[in-house]
Amino acid sequence: MAILVTGGSGFIGSHTVLELQEAGYDVVVIDNLSNSTEKSLKRVEELSGKPVKFYKIDIRDREGLEGLFRQEQIDSCIHFAGLKAVGESVAKPWEYYENNIGGTLTLVDVMRQNGVKNLIFSSSSTVYGDPDRVPVTEEDPVKKCTNPYGSTKAMQETIFTDIQKADPEWNIVLLRYFNPIGAHPSGRIGEDPNGIPNNLMPYITQVAVGKQPFLRVFGNDYPTPDGTGVRDYIHVVDLAKGHVKALERIKAGCGLAIYNLGTGKGYSVLDIVKNFEEASGVKIPYEICDRRPGDIAENYCDASKAEREMGWKAEKGILEMCRDSWNWQKNNPNGYAG
Ligand code: NAD
Ligand code: UD1
Repeated sequence: MAILVTGGSGFIGSHTVLELQEAGYDVVVIDNLSNSTEKSLKRVEELSGKPVKFYKIDIRDREGLEGLFRQEQIDSCIHFAGLKAVGESVAKPWEYYENNIGGTLTLVDVMRQNGVKNLIFSSSSTVYGDPDRVPVTEEDPVKKCTNPYGSTKAMQETIFTDIQKADPEWNIVLLRYFNPIGAHPSGRIGEDPNGIPNNLMPYITQVAVGKQPFLRVFGNDYPTPDGTGVRDYIHVVDLAKGHVKALERIKAGCGLAIYNLGTGKGYSVLDIVKNFEEASGVKIPYEICDRRPGDIAENYCDASKAEREMGWKAEKGILEMCRDSWNWQKNNPNGYAG
């Protein structure tokens, strides 16, 4: 029996496929390659020494999925596939709803028709909106999102919750990721954004290799210790390991379970710049700019539920995250393009 990983050639997916293989799982990956390349999986194969079964299938392609379920013995699904650029989602809401919601509904339908009712879903800290208090716990309210990307995450959580309530044979784990950064310590797999990065760490690493002249710090007048935005950054390898632990919860018959995956520590934009400079030895020039619309002052989590119930805890600290992000970028200045 294999684990089906949708979106498995992407950033978090590729790291998770490697951790799954290292934990002894058989893995089948599907991806439409809209935001990734199969090269990431070739590198996973090099690292694990095991082949990765890959099918280029879109999660909206019902026939493709049905064929896959006929061919492979699937036990559980880890569902990463989705579009994830916040700004793009504001410009193209239909595409985001159709891909993320439409694709998920098709996937879930084909799963249940084949009697596969175990699923782990990539949710996001974005579902907490601008939280009333930090650290946020899983009990805190899901709030209205400021962009269609965030709305697709909140809606998918609702869909999964209702499906599990109606049919308790389903075991579903909703994992709310905080801010994943870093890369595998080998420097062979990592984050490879298209065009100019939106997120902080890939932007910093591109400044460090000279692809961007300087970092724009979006606001220094937030009510935080140094005025810049505070987030809970988590090493992508720790995050990937969280999925292996979540599979154990599924095996134990968890019903519906929700976990924050973060370190529980908040770092400001300037903390990240300082730690990156220390880890890399490269100076990061920056300018203070206006706030980015839709941003919040701070968000970090209470990750103790994941530790209590799954035995999972983030192990890698901020310097290691910066070191591994840098190691990936400097060895692959153009990502998987070489
Ligand atoms: P990614 O873009 O690297 O990976 C997503 C993968 O899904 C890509 O390989 C893409 O080609 C694939 N995909 C998209 N639509 C598809 C479709 N219709 N059919 C098949 N494949 C499709 O992104 P990531 O950072 O690895 O994120 C993985 C998941 O985690 C996403 O659902 C994302 O929303 C979620 N998430 C990411 C972050 C983050 O900061 N990276 C934070 C919270 C949640
Ligand atoms: C963003 C998304 C969120 C998504 C998350 C994934 C927005 C509004 N939110 O969150 O939905 O789930 O990514 O990790 O885009 N910053 C700069 N300069 C930059 C880039 C970022 O100063 O060039 C600052 C931001 O203002 C923020 C911090 O760095 O304070 C982190 O930003 P980012 O990496 O984009 O993540 P989030 O804003 O947390």
